[in-house]
Amino acid sequence: MSTDHLIIFDTTLRDGEQSPGASMTKDEKVRIAKALEKLRVDVIEAGFPAASPGDFEAVKAVATAIKDSTVCGLARALDKDIDTAGEALAKANSARIHTFIATSPIHMERKLRMTPDQVVEQAVHAVKRARRYTDNVEFSPEDAGRSEPDFLCRVLEAVIKAGARTVNIPDTVGYSVPYQFGDLIRGLIERVPNADQAVFSVHCHNDLGLAVANSLAAVRNGARQVECTINGLGERAGNAALEEIVMAVRTRQDHFPCDTRIDTTQIVNCSRLVSGITGFPVQPNKAVVGANAFAHESGIHQDGVLKHRETYEIMRAEDVGWTENRMVLGKHSGRNAFKSRLAEIGITFDSEEDLNAAFARFKELADKKHEIFDEDLQTLVTDANLDATNERLKLVSMKVCSETGEVPRAEVVLQMDGQEEPGAAIGGGPVDATFKAIESIVNSGTILRLYSVNSITSGTDAQGEVTVRLEKGGRIVNGQGADTDIIVASAKAYINACNKVLKPLDRAHPQGADV
Ligand code: KIV
Ligand code: ZN
Repeated sequence: MSTDHLIIFDTTLRDGEQSPGASMTKDEKVRIAKALEKLRVDVIEAGFPAASPGDFEAVKAVATAIKDSTVCGLARALDKDIDTAGEALAKANSARIHTFIATSPIHMERKLRMTPDQVVEQAVHAVKRARRYTDNVEFSPEDAGRSEPDFLCRVLEAVIKAGARTVNIPDTVGYSVPYQFGDLIRGLIERVPNADQAVFSVHCHNDLGLAVANSLAAVRNGARQVECTINGLGERAGNAALEEIVMAVRTRQDHFPCDTRIDTTQIVNCSRLVSGITGFPVQPNKAVVGANAFAHESGIHQDGVLKHRETYEIMRAEDVGWTENRMVLGKHSGRNAFKSRLAEIGITFDSEEDLNAAFARFKELADKKHEIFDEDLQTLVTDANLDATNERLKLVSMKVCSETGEVPRAEVVLQMDGQEEPGAAIGGGPVDATFKAIESIVNSGTILRLYSVNSITSGTDAQGEVTVRLEKGGRIVNGQGADTDIIVASAKAYINACNKVLKPLDRAHPQGADV
């Protein structure tokens, strides 16, 4: 088959960030954006600049840092959103504004309280306004999956005429099924008279577990951009997973008349980075990036793979960036070796201070753990973030006693707003006692919704990576911590989550507010 270019539009930093608890700082966004650039994604949707001053600054920082990918900002079909996006993207090498308005009957009547005519008028106005800032304008009819196809044709024709160069069809609520979504895309491309003047894109949510299947059905029917996220992160059940789309298209070239320019060997690095920063662990059986994705347990499979790999493997682990757990650094490695190994796995630092903080942690870890693997390095960098000087809470020291027949007891000293505060508690187990001791100081008033521990590498001296999810008044935050001692990792994760709860939430949700 011929090979058209399939544009990969990554929205981890925008739709991914809308996942409850997945919010990221400006520096974290820049770090992920650089990894996405190295992965060679075509477009990085960096955020929703009008959501808050923090989001504006983050999009601006990504736009300044990224050279090889187009940087995109989301804007409701409102002048103030579009102007804010235009301003945030001013320094980008290549900028795109993505504006949207809902087109389904339920959204128009119940959310927007607008007539279809008003929606068309506002969509056209928004696209024209966005063209003041860039030629690269994308328009999305939100909830297209539940919109009338005739009305979609009308809106799309009008926005293409107004200057939209990409028209994106979102299945906002994950309602579509593959054959029907594929038909919808084909029908739109055939019926919109000026369809040849725009790239048709799709953006699928995973509420029925069909986001990837729907996206691929759309590609088979003419879509040439797919919007997706690393690890399938995103609102509710998430978005289509980038790694699955890319590998499906690459592996089944016999079924797709197109391919991406993605450097697939960067996939695992990106997956780990996003998981580490957001605190959303990757399930072991997740396609492509799960720890078991290339592991063969049964004797028959192992035997087959040893004799001839393709008997049970359709992709090569190394092609998506899996490497053997090999020791990369040790106790005697110097700062330069540390820095260059990190660069090889896609991690660079903005300042010497950040590098020094991570290197100090590396030395501490190397004292406890003989062999340092790439996975350890990845968490060191995430962990260095937890040390950020502007956090209100820091772990100073802790002591935990757990003995058969005795009630576990924890003593913790935290630094809170620069002041050292001691706390102590007993609990059902050492982790419970530790969390209660921290709460006796912080009084966060949160409910613990999730506690999970993952081993980062193998061996009993491996670091444990703990994720803690806390909820307060409907707001959800995730915290993460890593250490060779899982009780310490748990305390770090809990403190990390508390630091997030203590920060005021000042951002608007792009799809929440009325236009
Ligand atoms: O899911 C959705 O409809 C969106 C739009 C803003 C494109 O995320
Ligand atoms: Zn979405």
